Amino acid sequence: MKYINEINRRKTFAIISHPDAGKTTLTEKFLLFGGAIQTAGAVKSNKIKKHATSDFMEIERQRGISVATSVMTFEYDGHLVNLLDTPGHKDFAEDTYRTLTAVDSVVLVIDSVNGVEAQTRRLMEVIAMRKTPVIVFINKMDRDGKNRFDLLEEIEHELKIQLHPMTIPINNGKDFKGVYDLHKKSLVLFTAGTKANDEDVLEIHDLDDAILDKKIGEQDANTLREDVELIDGVYGALNNKDYLTGKTAPVFFGSAVNNFGVKEMLDTFIRIAPTPRPRHTTTRDIKPEEDKFSGFIFKIHANLDPKHRDRIAFLRVCSGRFERNAYYHHVRMNKDLRFNNPYSFLARQKEVIEDAYPGDVVGLFDTGNFKIGDTMTEGEDFYFTGIPSFSPEIFKEVVNKDPMKTKQLEKGLLQLTDEGVAQLFTQFGGNKKIIGCVGELQFEVIQYRLLQEYGASVQMNNLPFFKACWLTGKDPKNWRTSSGINRPILHWIKTTTWFTWHKANGS
Ligand code: G4P
Repeated sequence: MKYINEINRRKTFAIISHPDAGKTTLTEKFLLFGGAIQTAGAVKSNKIKKHATSDFMEIERQRGISVATSVMTFEYDGHLVNLLDTPGHKDFAEDTYRTLTAVDSVVLVIDSVNGVEAQTRRLMEVIAMRKTPVIVFINKMDRDGKNRFDLLEEIEHELKIQLHPMTIPINNGKDFKGVYDLHKKSLVLFTAGTKANDEDVLEIHDLDDAILDKKIGEQDANTLREDVELIDGVYGALNNKDYLTGKTAPVFFGSAVNNFGVKEMLDTFIRIAPTPRPRHTTTRDIKPEEDKFSGFIFKIHANLDPKHRDRIAFLRVCSGRFERNAYYHHVRMNKDLRFNNPYSFLARQKEVIEDAYPGDVVGLFDTGNFKIGDTMTEGEDFYFTGIPSFSPEIFKEVVNKDPMKTKQLEKGLLQLTDEGVAQLFTQFGGNKKIIGCVGELQFEVIQYRLLQEYGASVQMNNLPFFKACWLTGKDPKNWRTSSGINRPILHWIKTTTWFTWHKANGS
């Protein structure tokens, strides 16, 4: 229990949303409140919009920025908050899922105009599986969106989570007048384009008080009275345990771009969000307050700086204290490693750190030792579990366009697949290479990065496969019949292991 004060000070979370719901804007407001940035517009969106390739190239140009914002650490109200960034685009969902294994809670942003969107549904499935506590922020209340109760019902129904309104909006779009804070019993008035300040917050303990009619008009005041009565009747008081076990999600309404309703949510987040939680491993549960250090790698990023060709592995500290220059046990490689330049991301600056505590994310310079999911300990052998890996759904053959660059291509493919961007399959008895990904866009990313970072020019040829899986059986000749797959099967090898391929469409 040596580090209990440090542990209790930390809150590690991610903001997730369907692209364009307002994740970047909300992140920026959090950082402004935390004093980590001084001006709006400082956080660059790393989202990928309509013109995938050109947008990705632009993102690559800004890579320093988007990667520096992978983890943002700031102090707020005596707490140390680690905010982990997640890509919004569905083709990068794997990266997001893995990041979700490194957080203790999430804030989910929903666009009040569009309601629950595809990407939100998928993300929530992963969150529900892990029972991660969620706070919902219904954004863009300054736009003509859906009715407040319809939204609540849609979210509850679609995301299969009980909601608990913490604020209730007074209209939306051009008639949006603000929110009533159901717990503080105060009215927060909205004026477009300006930040809510103290004069805009009015304590209203008795909703029958005529001041309410004076401030928002008789009709809206009456509607608010009815809303509050309905909500009190249906939802009751927030049960913290239900929030912490992922059963109930507190909900806030606001407008991130107007910085409205954000502080109310941040204050509640700081008060109720979990401190670093215990983690499951292959042998036992690891509690953050244990004396000995342990952690796992959830993300790897190569070539952050093209001049230095470095690779950074992101390690989430799960227990004990991580110290610079101490030797730690790399469980998979059964090897002891030490790091003389571990860094953290305080105020978007990379900073070499002396130590780190549970909940923190440490950037480790990597010379090829790490793969996603690797566990580091002080000697004990176990692996943290629950780090997802996905079965590829699209397959393409990589054709080398420049034989002079064969070595660079091999290296690039191995390094990029270590990052978890894609899976690489090599033909058994040959050298044909196939890449398997979950999303189309990842191929563009790989092709672009192979050229930019390794000088290897490739062509990607479509293949008709839809699945790669393991088949077991005593006699390989009978695999096709014993597996029940009555289609041609190609045999491939991945490193030293057999892989088989199902050809799509039975052709
Ligand atoms: P994302 O990271 O989830 O993809 O979304 P992001 O924050 O980039 O927001 C998407 C768009 O929605 C942005 O507009 C942003 O300004 C706008 N937005 C965010 N919050 C609100 C809000 O509360 N009300 C309204 N009306 N708009 C909001 P954009 O035109 O795509 O980009 P920009 O040129 O404004 O940066």
